[in-house]
Amino acid sequence: MSLVEVIHNSAYAAHIRESQYIYPLMQCVHITGLAMFAGGVALVNVRVAGLGSAVPLVDLGRHAMRVAWIGLAMIVLTGVNMAASFLEVFAVSTVMQVKLGFILLALANAVILQRGLAGAGGAPWAISPPDPAAARKWAALGIAVLLTIITLGKLLAYIGGKD
Ligand code: HEM
Repeated sequence: MSLVEVIHNSAYAAHIRESQYIYPLMQCVHITGLAMFAGGVALVNVRVAGLGSAVPLVDLGRHAMRVAWIGLAMIVLTGVNMAASFLEVFAVSTVMQVKLGFILLALANAVILQRGLAGAGGAPWAISPPDPAAARKWAALGIAVLLTIITLGKLLAYIGGKD
């Protein structure tokens, strides 16, 4: 038996799969987490690009990124459990694989923002914030990546998902 089959057929996965409430509840937490993660990262991207410049970048960024990391933890915890409960489906889903690839890009975006906002010697962006004009295309790309992940996640309900 492959590892995918072992996980899919485990009592744990079956419990999530067969419960009337667990999977839908995980979907709710997944969506709440995605609102926090995508919302937080998008907000900081937009601010780095120069919008809302009346609000201090580092203060806004630190607060929004804290929300984003908590959201990401909620997303990953529920995403991994939902995927495990139908692993024979999700392990071969192209939509899921592309989605996971884009998640790595979103993570890179989040880490870059975080590194500008906090560091051992203080926030680099407190001293030299990015030039909004130069940051604009990266911010747009970061937001496009988030929208792609959300679209692919929703697509799982129709293609390459459990139903
Ligand atoms: C480790 C990372 C992740 C895993 C393993 C994962 C896994 C899943 C799974 C298994 C589903 C359920 C599909 C279904 O029931 O048909 C789902 C739905 C979804 N995911 Fe993720 N996901 C992850 C991260 C993300 C991220 C980072 C986002 C967005 C920023 C996201 C957005 C969505 C959306 C919009 C849905 C549709 C929810 C619904 O319609 O109920 N996911 N994901």
